[in-house]
Amino acid sequence: MTGPVLGLVASGAGGVERWLVDGLARPLAERGWRLAVTLTPTVARWLEPQLAALAATTDLPVRWTSRLPTEPKPHPVPDAFVFAPATANSLAKLALGIGDNQALTVLCEALGRRTPMVVLPQVSDDQAGHPAFQGHLAVLRSAGVVLADDPRSVIDLLDRVAPFVAFSENGENSAYG
Ligand SMILES: Cc1cc2nc3c(=O)[nH]c(=O)nc-3n(C[C@H](O)[C@H](O)[C@H](O)COP(=O)(O)O)c2cc1C
Repeated sequence: MTGPVLGLVASGAGGVERWLVDGLARPLAERGWRLAVTLTPTVARWLEPQLAALAATTDLPVRWTSRLPTEPKPHPVPDAFVFAPATANSLAKLALGIGDNQALTVLCEALGRRTPMVVLPQVSDDQAGHPAFQGHLAVLRSAGVVLADDPRSVIDLLDRVAPFVAFSENGENSAYG
């Protein structure tokens, strides 16, 4: 399978089980992205009933654990990332560079490379009121992260920050064609 690779990372925010596959993963795959899906341990547990449908959107394995040092990397290096939904917990970890699970490891490395990234925060008023929260958002924005309001705007924003699909469709100027 060819095409630009999109790292799709999800964390444990309420309702994700209702929209992640049909509202985000499948539409992204239909736009030509090859999905490299990585889940936080929390959402991997929540999405157990949806895992087969999620896996069907990509030829790459859906991950939530690290590989053994002796194993090859299961995912190629993505050209862009979508982190949706982003919990207050995982968003804070990304801003601080804490890679204490596979999802945050790939996100923190991607931010270090300044890979184009769209993040969809989903937080309660109380979580947003934490004194560090606005600072975390500011850190992400300063590194070029684009913040989205809902799954639909994630796809539109991704088209803007990472127009790889258009490149691969017309076959020009592309290393992927
Ligand atoms: C039903 C349920 C819904 C939740 N919804 C949210 C949410 O919308 N946003 C959020 O930041 N945390 C939410 N949480 C709390 C997170 O799941 C919790 O902070 C967890 O540790 C996040 O782990 P992760 O960021 O590694 O996925 C929810 C928890 C439960 C049980």
